[in-house]
This record gives sequence, C-alpha cells and structure tokens, in this order.
Amino acid sequence: LSHLFFTYQGVPYPVTMCTSETFQALDTFEARSDDIVLASYPKCGSNWILHIVSELIFAISKKKYEYSEFPVLECGDAEKYQRMKQFPSPRILTTHLHYDKLPASIFKNKAKILVLFRNPKDTAASFFYFHNNVPDIPSYASWDEFFRQFMKGQVSWGSYFDFAISWNKHLDDENVKFILYEDLKEDLGAGVQQIADFFGFSLTGEKIQTISAQSTFQTMQEKSQETHGTVGPFLFRKGEVGDWKNLFSESQNQEMDEKFKECLAGTSLGEKLKY
Ligand code: PPS
Repeated sequence: LSHLFFTYQGVPYPVTMCTSETFQALDTFEARSDDIVLASYPKCGSNWILHIVSELIFAISKKKYEYSEFPVLECGDAEKYQRMKQFPSPRILTTHLHYDKLPASIFKNKAKILVLFRNPKDTAASFFYFHNNVPDIPSYASWDEFFRQFMKGQVSWGSYFDFAISWNKHLDDENVKFILYEDLKEDLGAGVQQIADFFGFSLTGEKIQTISAQSTFQTMQEKSQETHGTVGPFLFRKGEVGDWKNLFSESQNQEMDEKFKECLAGTSLGEKLKY
C-alpha cells in the first residue's frame, strides 16, 4: 500500500488527508498563547480528548464546537491557516505530528499542549481494525501484514516509536501535560479534572462528573453517527484496554516488547506507559 503515502521530511502521511503544500503552509501558521493543542499518535484516543476539551469549553463559555470546524492541524487545504486567523479563541488544534514537526509559533507563543499516549499494542490493533473496517480506506491483506508495516513505521504518520521518542524528551516541559489512555479508562473523572486544571477551566466537581458521564465510551459510541457521520461507529469501535491479545501472536508480542525496550526502556515515558 506504499502508493497511499507520501513522505514529507522523513515521515509517511496518507495522500488522501495531507499534502506537501499544506505542510509548507503549516510553517506560516500563527499560534496563539490560548490555543489548545491535543497531540497524539493515531488511534490513541484523540477524538476522546477532543470531546472532553470541547465539553469543558462549552461548560465555561456556552460555545459549542463543531468537530468539522477543527480538523487535524496538518490535514486539509493549504489555505486553512489563513481562515484559522478568524477563528475565535480558544482554538482547539489536534495533531498527530512528532514534537519537532510542530510549527515553531506553538512553542514561541507558549500554547498549552496535552499529549495523549496509549500502549502501542492496543494502538496497533485499533489502527488495523480501522483500516480493515472502514469501507472508504484501504485494507491490509492480513493482521500479520499490518503488523509488519506498523513495526517498520510504514503507516500513516509513521512510526509510533519515533513519535514516542520525539515527545518523550518534552513531557516535563512547561506548557506540556502528559496523559494516558489507560488512566482515563481507569478513572475518567480524575482525568477530566486534570485536563480542566491544566487548561485553567475552573468548574464544580458536579460539572466535572457530568462531563465525565458524557465522555464514556458507551455514550460517545451511541452518538457517534451524529457526531462523526458514517465513520463514527468504526472510530468508536471497542474502547478497551488489552484488546491486542485477540490479535497478537506470541512472537509479535515479543517483537514489540523488544522494540519498546530498545526505544523507551529507562525513559520517563517507558516507565509510565502501561501494557
Ligand atoms: S483517530 O482516527 O486516530 O483520530 O482515532 P482516535 O480517536 O485517536 O482513537 C480511536 C480509539 O479511541 C477509542 N475511544 C475511546 N475509548 C474509550 N473511551 C472513549 N470515550 C473513547 N473514545 C474513543 C476508540 O474506540 C478507538 O479505539 P478502539 O480500540 O479501536 O476501540
């Protein structure tokens, strides 16, 4: 499926979603200090945190965000950054980019960045099912084939491990907050509170609980067609921790453990990721 990707500065991106013109224009993007940046590798739960942050903003300002208003920062046409100048604050910018591929103005203007991680095994499983379930995007011949490409980083947005290595060095930076999919699953209320605190949204405990109840997998899945159209039910597929066990062979499990050790053992992210 290599014809489905184009490589920009060493990373493969899907030709159906990204263009080199947009990447060039991205350098001119002017971030604001109150922009909200949500960074994650694909399939780590970006739509989940986008929903949580949208609900928090609604609770504070009564401004309802339309999902289509804020597509992934690096996707779409090259003129979008001009249009985004008209968007009211706070703008939500979701991205799957490596740390060093983000436009410099995000750091210069000190926009806050929430970085979401999920264990690489469930991430790979979710990515595979997405490709092979959604009618309009290319399928892989088998899980084994997808696994090979995932391990080589020959998938959309490149290697999970390169993404993790690039962010790992910056998780304790000022204006960066790290959050784990598995922790959100374990205690959604605590996660929503942490996100609210990080972005400075002061809400009652009751309001935080209401937003948590609106952000469970079940609630989001039930509304997925309404919020995300026909792709919705595929995007909100299972929402569990450990589903990788239904796909990985023992040798694939070991291969990923080795890769994980090689790339992240002994690092702060390596210690934090749970699987
Ligand atoms: S994408 O296509 O990269 O934007 O996908 P992304 O939104 O990052 O990730 C999709 C996976 O996140 C799961 N998800 C959730 N899990 C638990 N609770 C909630 N509320 C939730 N919302 C989304 C979604 O189900 C996908 O994972 P899998 O394992 O495929 O179900």
